[in-house]
Amino acid sequence: MDPRDNPYSPGAGRRPVALIGREREMTAWDIALTRIADGRGAQSLVLYGLRGVGKTVLLTQLALMARSQGWYVMGAEARRGQSVREAIGESVHGLLLEIARPGVGQRILKAVKTALSFKASYDSTGVWHFGLDVTGAEGGGADTGALETDLGRLILDLTGAAEDKGAGVALLIDEAQDLATDELAALLAIVHGANQRGDRLLVALAGLPSLPRQLSEAKSYAERLFAFHEIAILNRAEAAAVLTEPAEALGVRWTTAALERVTAAAGGYPYFLQEYGQAAWNAADGSPIGDTDARIGIVQGRRALDAGFFRIRWERASPAERAYLRAMAQDGDGPSLTAQIATRLKKKPSALGPARANLIGKGLVYSPAHGDIAFTVPAMAAFIDVQP
Ligand SMILES: Nc1ncnc2c1ncn2[C@@H]1O[C@H](COP(=O)(O)OP(=O)(O)O)[C@@H](O)[C@H]1O
Ligand SMILES: [Mg+2]
Repeated sequence: MDPRDNPYSPGAGRRPVALIGREREMTAWDIALTRIADGRGAQSLVLYGLRGVGKTVLLTQLALMARSQGWYVMGAEARRGQSVREAIGESVHGLLLEIARPGVGQRILKAVKTALSFKASYDSTGVWHFGLDVTGAEGGGADTGALETDLGRLILDLTGAAEDKGAGVALLIDEAQDLATDELAALLAIVHGANQRGDRLLVALAGLPSLPRQLSEAKSYAERLFAFHEIAILNRAEAAAVLTEPAEALGVRWTTAALERVTAAAGGYPYFLQEYGQAAWNAADGSPIGDTDARIGIVQGRRALDAGFFRIRWERASPAERAYLRAMAQDGDGPSLTAQIATRLKKKPSALGPARANLIGKGLVYSPAHGDIAFTVPAMAAFIDVQP
């Protein structure tokens, strides 16, 4: 069928036509938004899971929900070796462009003035222009250089401004496993303080399965601040819905055999479902999408994954790191024991420390528990096994 009408959306962070199976998280978020708007407390959210399960698109959905209820929403993606301050600052800029208009109240003016000082804390040359005169306004001082103080001040003033319209501030951070430990600690302290004062702040962090452990290592009280949601693979019925719902909206059906074949091949991973669904659609002559289309879709979708999803990760690894990954792949999708990897490679565990650390830094592996190591990407082992 015509690829121009193709309703599937393989790709990192690409919003699906139908977001399936995440009602529990969306409900938790919705309840938290309402509770905070009503002046009651609520737990922030941590979404953790492997790559390709749908953390980013869920985070986008949570942002939309908050925005549609009038909340001030800031979103940032953490990157290793880069300060999160700037990423948050730039998203505050986007937010303020929407709300900073001539004639706004004192609390927005104050938040704008504080945001300007936050901007100055990481960028001495650039200036934001909102066409507002903040000379006489309160605020500012978010440029001490200490993230906890500066971001805390910025959020406090924004929550004050949001309170005027009965809303709050939502801060969403993706790839949060890449935040530095001191950044995580600052963030946790800010959430903790906001909860105690009853400030209207709600945070959602998304990241790899190591994120909950990183949080509790950063601050022992982390587990009380957050509700932890594992973003896992979809069950059979949900996986089928990922395929059928977008097609049905265009009057296209899937045969039962085709559905079963594709859901079995995708193993419940949303990314794989989108990739196979897209290819099966393109292979089909019309409705319904049948078993032969499903077979072709799986082969072609798999080829696309090999050329993109898996390959870009493999190519990021140095020869020594690849040797490490190959040793891991002997355990399939894992996890592997780091001590056993060392035995397989006939090296001392300490000698493999750098390769392991680099692989974690590159986002290819993570440590599920002390002494364990696992791939961040499902089915990576099978890909590695066939690499020359
Ligand atoms: N709940 C879902 N229902 C349908 N498709 C989804 C769902 N979650 C994710 N996807 C699809 O899976 C792919 C990966 O999503 P993404 O949010 O980038 O995953 P992650 O951030 O966990 O790596 C995208 O192509 C997206 O469209
Ligand atoms: Mg993501």
